[in-house]
Amino acid sequence: MTPEEKAAQLTQYFYLQPIPAANKPALEALRTTGLGSLLFVTDPAEVNRLQRIAVEQSRLKIPLLFGFDVIHGLRTIFPVPIGMAASWDPALVEATQAVAAKEARAVGVHWTFAPNVDIARDPRWGRIVETAGEDPYLTSAMARAQVHGFQGPRLGAPGHVIAGPKHFAGYGASLGGRDWDEVELSDSDLWNVHLPPFQAAINAGAGAMMAAYMHLNGVPAAANRNLLTTILRDKLGFKGFIGSDSGSVNKLVTQNLTRDTQDAAARAIAAGLDIEMVDPGKLAAMSKLPAAMAAGQVPQARVDEAVGRILKAKLRMGLFERPYIDEKAVEKTLNDPAHRRLARIAAERSAVLLRNENGVLPFDKRRIKSLAVIGPMAASAKDTLGPWVFEQNGASAVTVLAGLQQKLGKKVRISYSEGVRMPARMFPSPSATADKVPERPPLDETTEIARAAALARDADAAVVVVGEAMNMISEGGSRSSFTLPGRQQELLDAVVATGKPVVVVIFSARPLHLGETRAQAILDAWYPGSEGGTAIANLLFGDAVPAGKLPFSWTRSPAHAPNYYAQLISHKPNPVNGRYWNETSAPTYPFGYGLSYSTFEYTNLRLQQPSVPKSALVVLNVDLKNLGDRTADEVPQLYIHQRFGTSARPARELKGFQRVTLKPGETRSLRFVLSPDDLRYWSSATNGWVNNASAFDVWVGGNSEATLHGIFELTG
Ligand code: NOJ
Repeated sequence: MTPEEKAAQLTQYFYLQPIPAANKPALEALRTTGLGSLLFVTDPAEVNRLQRIAVEQSRLKIPLLFGFDVIHGLRTIFPVPIGMAASWDPALVEATQAVAAKEARAVGVHWTFAPNVDIARDPRWGRIVETAGEDPYLTSAMARAQVHGFQGPRLGAPGHVIAGPKHFAGYGASLGGRDWDEVELSDSDLWNVHLPPFQAAINAGAGAMMAAYMHLNGVPAAANRNLLTTILRDKLGFKGFIGSDSGSVNKLVTQNLTRDTQDAAARAIAAGLDIEMVDPGKLAAMSKLPAAMAAGQVPQARVDEAVGRILKAKLRMGLFERPYIDEKAVEKTLNDPAHRRLARIAAERSAVLLRNENGVLPFDKRRIKSLAVIGPMAASAKDTLGPWVFEQNGASAVTVLAGLQQKLGKKVRISYSEGVRMPARMFPSPSATADKVPERPPLDETTEIARAAALARDADAAVVVVGEAMNMISEGGSRSSFTLPGRQQELLDAVVATGKPVVVVIFSARPLHLGETRAQAILDAWYPGSEGGTAIANLLFGDAVPAGKLPFSWTRSPAHAPNYYAQLISHKPNPVNGRYWNETSAPTYPFGYGLSYSTFEYTNLRLQQPSVPKSALVVLNVDLKNLGDRTADEVPQLYIHQRFGTSARPARELKGFQRVTLKPGETRSLRFVLSPDDLRYWSSATNGWVNNASAFDVWVGGNSEATLHGIFELTG
């Protein structure tokens, strides 16, 4: 291979349709030197056409790897990842990403830029929507499940894609929750909080990794050798290939690390990066790699190693034998009804019931004769699908309004009011798809709020769908307020003031403050995806029972962020939420919280042995009883606290959970096992992992404020 051909294999260009001008550098490279990868092409005919150029026209005939952001589905859209995390159901998560992989592979995608395994402890940060929230244990479980779902039994398995966990590492800790801003993390934070989900993804076999955009402790991730080589390769044992985030090699210049793009290409490769994702329309920094090689700026062996990794990925994906896809088979795969069924189940299992006063939910089918469906997102397919859904893939959604109409048919009179419009962002979102709003006649919101209230007054109950529009979250979706955007609060208050039973359905991915609303029920549906409306109708009318649990603490105010549950016990522990003199900092709902239409009782926590050597397993059992009169799921969660040791440890840490289904009146004995790996932590006192002999508290219950308590001792 010539240096130019090597550099080209280390390059990934956007290929946008239909913006031909932006594709010029990509097409030129493809014909002359070949190319490592293209991203964003999901039109099967176009995939084959481009692949044919690589395989038949380029000198070396090396096939292309196609990458894409398959975040929560391709044609069939599942709830956003934060919602899937709220299901606390790794098997379901694996199944949904297996479907996403199948659809993606059918259109020609080989590599997804997912899962996002960043820890999001600051809900001002918009990318919380793609994560599993604040907790390293839950995020690790979701990371594992997603990698298994995307990749299947082995890397290269048919109908599966390469998983590319991101963003390595620490992106969720950006200053002030502002997207892309710098991150300063201690080693203790890095090892105990931010790296474990990456380790889980690596152990699950992830074939790729994406380096983050931001500076970590002063060094941009794309050229951070400590991150990409010392930590990722040497310590975490990652064997796949490392890609950059889009444009981040070129940006090493403007992020003030390198003199010019040639230096940027050399430094990124030397740091351990294997392939550069280039911003749309820009020329790859890697085009300067041959010059850098000639000038001795980068070791030849490092370049060859990187090229070897890309070729190996192509080999493992079978591209040298079968470079093309079967265009005729695509639509059948994308429209498989089983995929829609799974999307409905996923939306049902991810919803979190936050409030249900006087058992207003589930609605009684015999008593509800008329229903007012209200709110700017009640009939919005785009907001039902959420972010990271691209028009080009033809996704559709059952909205809440449509779902209720389908469920209730002619027997129930359903009225609808949009109520208010979503306000525009002050700064546009970086995604054109997100910001594209369909042309509609203007709405007089004052009149429409009054009309919505009148509809509610005239109905047996009202369902109000409010939250943040899909363009207010995700990349560039950081926000300094948790109130309802626009006049939604006014709308909600007007409907509640009618005195009719009101159920609020929230579409969002961060905690929202609904004023002091007296609405009787609140159901957080996240962005529920293709079958969102069907699922919500089932949940509201009791054909599905909510059991989702919050994957983050419902922080009361952005001024309190970050405010996660796993904090240290301070010098002045009490009152723990009384550090601000003006208001409580207690979260509105704790991490792990979520109601059911049933209630559960936890009793009889018993440790198999109250004292065990620290190299042994801690085994405990708890009895869980369904006290209600319907079959329902519950998510028992186990939290620990280490009382003393080399470092102080958080007041509580999640270390186990299960999602179980119990019949009315059924009692089940649940077993939890803690291994030395679960109890180890990274101490800044020794700069390494420790397992202490110590006393531990343990709690099991339905959220992070569980009260059923035990004590065990690890001996030295
Ligand atoms: C930028 C985002 O940070 C990353 O997560 C995504 O995969 C790429 N753009 C490609 O869309």
